[in-house]
Amino acid sequence: MKLSALLMFIFLTGCFDSNAQTADSVALGKATFDKNCVTCHGKSAQGLVTNWKTPINGKYPAPPLNGSAHAWHHSPKLLLKTINEGGVKLGGSMPGFKNTLSTDEKQALLDYLYSLWPKNIQQRYDSRFE
Ligand code: HEC
Repeated sequence: MKLSALLMFIFLTGCFDSNAQTADSVALGKATFDKNCVTCHGKSAQGLVTNWKTPINGKYPAPPLNGSAHAWHHSPKLLLKTINEGGVKLGGSMPGFKNTLSTDEKQALLDYLYSLWPKNIQQRYDSRFE
């Protein structure tokens, strides 16, 4: 009985470790997102337009980040690069947050976005990038 409780504990903590997202980090990510990203990406990261693949005045609108577009196809490293550098250099319109957000806030943003994705997408992401 005690042994199975111990094994369960190890199993559960092991799971938490492999997904480094903690409740604190997700909360910080949500606060950071609400302050810096919702104006373009929408309150729940759902995007503001349905057809985000169609440019408006030559620029692409901000895509959803909630797992319904393709942010989840990108490695954490690439997502961080987008957050840091934005898309202006590549002909887009997203500003870079390199100097305005801390490393913790940026990591928390990734954790928050991940937390919005459906379970099956989280699993596919984990198997690809962790
Ligand atoms: C001024 C509007 C605007 C703001 C503010 C903004 N974004 Fe964006 N974002 C965009 C646009 C537009 C794109 C598409 C690429 C481009 O045009 O630069 C994009 C692309 C992205 C992508 C790549 C998505 C993909 O599918 O590859 C990520 C990730 C992202 N934004 C995260 C964020 C985060 C996190 C914040 C807040 C810290 C943020 N954005 C703030 C407009 C914005």
